[in-house]
Amino acid sequence: MLTLAVSKGRIFDECLPLLEALDAAPANHPDSSRRLVVPTQDADLRLLIVRAADVPTYVQHGAADLGVAGKDVLLEHGGEGLYEPLDLRIARCTMVLAAPRGAALPAGHLRVATKYVRCTQRYFAARGRQVETIKLYGSMELAPGVGLADAIVDLVDTGGTLRANGLEVVEPMYCISARLVVNKAAMKMQHEKVGDMLRRWAEAVEAEVRA
Ligand code: ATP
Ligand code: PRP
Repeated sequence: MLTLAVSKGRIFDECLPLLEALDAAPANHPDSSRRLVVPTQDADLRLLIVRAADVPTYVQHGAADLGVAGKDVLLEHGGEGLYEPLDLRIARCTMVLAAPRGAALPAGHLRVATKYVRCTQRYFAARGRQVETIKLYGSMELAPGVGLADAIVDLVDTGGTLRANGLEVVEPMYCISARLVVNKAAMKMQHEKVGDMLRRWAEAVEAEVRA
């Protein structure tokens, strides 16, 4: 039996057609049940419903053999103990630096509000720029308008949330999509099972892209 960690919401919803294509439709949808362990149509695959940011932790420690996580979450986690063999091409967006529309950012000390503290530090350090990060857990778009920060690092898809809060993209940082991740030990110890599961996911992604 293989165990796959996945978060409810956007990632689960966008994974559903892929799970169906690989003959592993979940027994129930997490929106209509409180069960956190969900069997699938494939007797050899069960799902763990976890918070999006917790997926790499479950997989790193082997509590799940596989997981579906956004690249943003993986960049922030660091990817220790994981392989990242497949881009699922779902939940696509961009991680950006954004600031109030038309505002000039300070050349010196820059305060950036974000839930992606490690990512932001790494990104600016690689460019020889020190920034102060202010950790938030959501609603980052609020921070510049109320004087908490000069700028934010957040995800953008349509740009609607930025626009609605008087912000604009200053700089795109990373292209984001959901990835299939695998526990390194599981890849070695259950090579055949995991390899077969990866092949099925890759075929499902290809079929979805062609559709
Ligand atoms: P939680 O609900 O557990 O606090 P979350 O709010 O980050 O976590 P979601 O909003 O469902 O969870 O986002 C899950 C993943 O979907 C993110 O990690 C990111 O990879 C991707 N994502 C987030 N926002 C968007 C968006 N607007 N468009 C496309 N993909 C997105
Ligand atoms: C995400 C992200 C942005 C928004 C961007 O939030 O954190 O706020 O989407 O999308 P847009 O460019 O299409 O407006 P989400 O909708 O997931 O809400 P949450 O962070 O509160 O879960």
